[in-house]
Amino acid sequence: MINILAISGSLRKSSFSTKILVHLSKIAPENTTFSLTDKLDKLPHFNPDIDDDGAFAEVEAFRSQIKESDVVIISTPEYAKGIPGVLKNALDWIVSSGEFIDKPTAVISASPLPTGGDEAMRSILLTLGMINAHIPAEATMSIPEVSLKINAKGEVIDPSLQTNSEQFLSASLKNITKS
Ligand SMILES: Cc1cc2nc3c(=O)[nH]c(=O)nc-3n(C[C@H](O)[C@H](O)[C@H](O)COP(=O)(O)O)c2cc1C
Repeated sequence: MINILAISGSLRKSSFSTKILVHLSKIAPENTTFSLTDKLDKLPHFNPDIDDDGAFAEVEAFRSQIKESDVVIISTPEYAKGIPGVLKNALDWIVSSGEFIDKPTAVISASPLPTGGDEAMRSILLTLGMINAHIPAEATMSIPEVSLKINAKGEVIDPSLQTNSEQFLSASLKNITKS
């Protein structure tokens, strides 16, 4: 089985960024397991002074989830032209421990605006590049006007997003080998 870890950058209950991950879990191939982490808000604020191995169970659990996954899919909204603080905080905890080094990682940005969260995408790709994540070709997807494409039940109602999601998932899983 290929273990997919999905991380949403939004804590909002009816988040579009989370809904698209749930949609991907439903269309994922049978040889995959899909887990969605929902504890980013339980991580302490990153501070190098307290970054000691084993100091925080939540940090260790998050690091282990990444380590044990074969591919990570991050879906993020754009907040004030960047990524939400809670997601940046989570990624900062991984700088010293290195779980993202060479980790196949796919990225989605979603926004109700026509820009599709392109600044958030730009920003997270810089961060993921710094921590040496491996982003396979075509494993990024920006979703403009997301609120018109996913309904309140979380169903993808836009045919082009359905197709793009399938292509994105297949690019994310291409050449993935069990770690
Ligand atoms: C504090 C705040 C800042 C935002 N800044 C941006 C922004 O810079 N660009 C953008 O496209 N949308 C921005 N938005 C709108 C979000 O894209 C929108 O609320 C989106 O639905 C949030 O993602 P979610 O549905 O996954 O929670 C902002 C929303 C909030 C609450």
